[in-house]
Amino acid sequence: MGEYEDIFRASTDDPEGFWLRAAEAIDWHVPPTRALDGSRPPFYRWFPDGELNVCHNALDRHVEARGDQPALVYDSPVTRTQRTYTYRQLRDEVARFAGVLAGLGVGRGDRVVIYMPMVPEAAIAMLACARIGAIHSVVFGGFAPKELAVRIDDAAPSVIVSASCGIEGKRVIEYKPLLDKAVELAEHKPGKRVILQRPEAEAAMGPDDVDWADAVAAAEPADCVPMRATDPLYILYTSGTTGKPKGVVRDGGGYAVALAWSMPNLYDVGPGETIFTGSDVGWVVGHSYIVYAPLLAGATTVLYEGKPVGTPDAGQYWRVVAEHGVKSVFTAPTAFRAIKKEDPDGEFARQYDISGLKYLFLAGERLDPETHRWASELLGIPVIDHWWQTETGWPIVANPAGIELLPIKPGSPTRPLPGWDVQVFDTSGRPVEPGTDGAIVVKLPMPPGSLPTLWNDDERFVASYMSAFDGYYLTGDGGHLDEDGYVYVMGRTDDVINVAGHRLSTGGMEEVLASHPAVAECAVIGVADAMKGQIPRGFVVLKAGVEVDEEQLRAELVQLVRDQVGAVASLRDVAVVPALPKTRSGKILRKTMRGIADGADEPVPSTIDDPAVLDALRPVLRRA
Ligand code: COA
Ligand code: AMP
Repeated sequence: MGEYEDIFRASTDDPEGFWLRAAEAIDWHVPPTRALDGSRPPFYRWFPDGELNVCHNALDRHVEARGDQPALVYDSPVTRTQRTYTYRQLRDEVARFAGVLAGLGVGRGDRVVIYMPMVPEAAIAMLACARIGAIHSVVFGGFAPKELAVRIDDAAPSVIVSASCGIEGKRVIEYKPLLDKAVELAEHKPGKRVILQRPEAEAAMGPDDVDWADAVAAAEPADCVPMRATDPLYILYTSGTTGKPKGVVRDGGGYAVALAWSMPNLYDVGPGETIFTGSDVGWVVGHSYIVYAPLLAGATTVLYEGKPVGTPDAGQYWRVVAEHGVKSVFTAPTAFRAIKKEDPDGEFARQYDISGLKYLFLAGERLDPETHRWASELLGIPVIDHWWQTETGWPIVANPAGIELLPIKPGSPTRPLPGWDVQVFDTSGRPVEPGTDGAIVVKLPMPPGSLPTLWNDDERFVASYMSAFDGYYLTGDGGHLDEDGYVYVMGRTDDVINVAGHRLSTGGMEEVLASHPAVAECAVIGVADAMKGQIPRGFVVLKAGVEVDEEQLRAELVQLVRDQVGAVASLRDVAVVPALPKTRSGKILRKTMRGIADGADEPVPSTIDDPAVLDALRPVLRRA
C-alpha cells in the first residue's frame, strides 16, 4: 500500500487525531484540546477551544527565522512594476494598515469589504483585517456596481477598501466611480472608504474617502489579537442558482490548519520555495493560494497583475517562473488554452529558463484532455488537475504530489485528499456503481477549512447543501468514480456555470434579462466554448404585442448584463425566440437545451409539454 493510502486511511480511521497532529503546524495562543465539535450537525466546528491569529501565523512568526526572505513578489507587466516584500516588510506594512483600520473604528467581528485590483495592497488589507479580528469580504473587481451593492448589503461592512483603478489588459478601469455607484445603490451605508490612489487614474476623493498613503503614514502599527479558531476570518460571496450570492463563511483555525497541510503535501512547496498562482484575490483560489497558504508555509508567493496573454505576450507566465524561481504554478485551464492559442509550439517557453518549475496545478473548471496533453508535452513535468470549490476552501480531490505522485488519468483530478469522503449518489440517495454518473457528495463532517455556514443564513446553508441527502454535503457537481477510486467531475448539476474559471449564475443573468420591459420570459444556459470552457447564451421570449428592433434589443440585453452583473459574465449571444421548451409543470428544459447546443444526442424528456417548441428551437440552439 502506498504512502497516500496510509495517510488517507489515517484521516478516516482517526480524523480527530489526524487533524490535531496537522494543527501542530500552527502557532496557537491557546492550543486546541479537541479537534471537532459535532454536537449540532450539520453545523460542525473545528478546534472549538483553540485560539490563534491567522495573520500572526502568516507573517509575524516567520519574521525571526526568515525576516529577510521574500514573502510576496508583486509582478505587474501592465504597470511595468516589480516589488518584493520580505516577511519583515510585509508584516510592518500589514501592521500599519491594521492600525489605519483600527483608527477608523474597525474591530473584532466588524466586516471590511475589499474591492481591489491585483495589487499587493489587496493582500495587505486582507491580512490587516485578520490581524485585528475583522472579517474581510473581497469582491472581485470584474463585478458591476449592482453586484458589489448586493454584497455590501449582505456583509454590512463598516469600512470599504478600494483603489482608484485597475488595469485590464491595455485598458485602465476606474474603480472609484463603480464603488461610488455601488454605495449609492446599497441600502447599508458603510463609514469610510480607504482608497489606494494609482498613478494610472487618480480618483476624485469625497468627504468619506481616506487616502491610503496618507492614512498609513499617520497610523500606529496594530498588534495581532487572539481569535477563537471558530471565529470567521472572511466571507467570500459565490454564485448560487439565484441572483443572490451565497456568503461562504471561513473560520480561521480550520482553514489555517488545512492550508498549512496542503502546501507540503499537495503543492510540494515548503519554506523558502516559491509558488505562483495565476488567479485573482477576488476568488477562493486567490484567497487560499495567492495569500494565505504560501505565507502560512513560510514560502514566497507571486502576486501577478496581468493576463496570461496580451500583457504583452504569451510568454509572461514563463518569464515569471524564470525570474522568481517558481517551483509550482497554479492556474485555471483557460489560461493554458489562451497561451496555447497564441503560442501553439511553445516558442515563448523556450526563451526562458524554466528548469526550476516542478509542477503545474490546474483547477477552477474541467481540465480537457487536450489541454492536459499539450501542457504535459510542453513542460515535461506533472500537470495536476485538482477539484474544489469556494465552499470547501481547499482541494477535495487531487494528486497529492508532495506525498507521492499517483498515476495520472487525464480527465480525472485523481483521488480524494485526506478528510474528504467522496461518494456518488443517484437521485434517491443510493451510492451508484463505479462508472455510473450521479451527484457527487461528501460525507459529513467535512474536514477543516470547509464552510461552517453561510453568512447570516443558516437556513440557506442547510437548504442548499445539507438537505438533499441527510448526512452528506451536496457539491452541486455531477460525475462518477472509477474502479480505482478516481473521481471524474463532469459538470454542475445546477444553474452555475464556469466562464474562464469564473463562477457565475445563469439564474442571476436571467433575472437581469427578465427585467427588460420587452421580455416576457427567458433562459440562460452555459454552452461549451473552446477558450473559456463555457460561455452563457441567452434566449428571450417577447411580451405579446411588443414591437422591437431585434438587433437593438439584443444589444440592450447584452449591455444590461454587462452593467448589472459585470463584463466578466461574457454574455454576448442573446436570441429572440417564439417560445421556450417546458415540462408540463412549466419548468424550462434548460438541461435539454444545453445538450442540444453542445451538439449532444439529447433525448426529448417524457415530461415535455409541447415537443414542437423544442423542434423549432433546435436550429437556433445548434448554431455555433
Ligand atoms: N476588473 C475589471 N474588469 C475585469 C476584471 C477585473 N478584475 N477581470 C475581467 N474583467 C473584464 C475583462 O476586461 C473583460 O472585459 P471585456 O469584455 O470588456 O473585454 C471581461 O471582464 C471578461 O474577462 P476575462 O474572463 O478575463 O476574459 P478575457 O477575454 O479578458 O481574457 C483569459 C481571457 C483566458 C486570458 C482570462 O480569462 C484569464 O486570464 N483567465 C485565467 C483564469 C483565471 O484567472 N481564473 C480565475 C479563477 S482560478
Ligand atoms: P469556485 O467555487 O469558483 O472555485 O468554482 C467551483 C466549481 O468549479 C466546481 O463546483 C466545479 O464545477 C468547477 N471546478 C473546479 N475545479 C474543477 C476541476 N478540476 N474539474 C472540474 N470542475 C472543476
